[in-house]
Amino acid sequence: MNRAIYPGSFDPVTNGHLDIIKRSAELFDELYVGVLNNTSKSPLFSVEERVNMLKEATAEIRNIKVVSFQGLLVDFVKEIDASVVVRGLRAITDFEYELQLAQTNHVLYPSVDTMFLTAKLEYSYLSSTIVREVASFGGDISKFVPDEVAKRMYEKYGIEDKNN
Ligand code: PNS
Repeated sequence: MNRAIYPGSFDPVTNGHLDIIKRSAELFDELYVGVLNNTSKSPLFSVEERVNMLKEATAEIRNIKVVSFQGLLVDFVKEIDASVVVRGLRAITDFEYELQLAQTNHVLYPSVDTMFLTAKLEYSYLSSTIVREVASFGGDISKFVPDEVAKRMYEKYGIEDKNN
């Protein structure tokens, strides 16, 4: 079985992430979406909330498993027996960090390769950080995230959702 993992923080999942998920699910028999449970960071959403939002947003894709992981990505890659890590590239500014990550992972576990998908032009400016910033000031995030995610973000920030 041709199994890949798309890892990330997904705090929260954006339409850009979802585009990468849909496209990579077509390339592999099985795609794990790995949500990092990073205890040293304080995310807006708990890891359970991030996993649940991703499960909802990807419910129609049959070959996807959304799971959380802790620690080194390569250890989780071994555990689930994946051979490819998928990452999205939005712009050249992403490249340096992504190359470093890919090469480190390959040195730590030579059986794993990283495959980059370029973000669609319409999502190339988008990041979870920007979405959090806009939502925290009550701005319109309807073009950036699924409706259900937008609703939960406004709830977190104690802001009335203007679309509902
Ligand atoms: O969405 P992000 O925050 O850019 O995702 C980064 C992620 C989760 C892929 C990366 O931080 C990661 O793999 N973290 C787990 C620890 C690890 O294995 N780091 C790489 C070797 S230093």
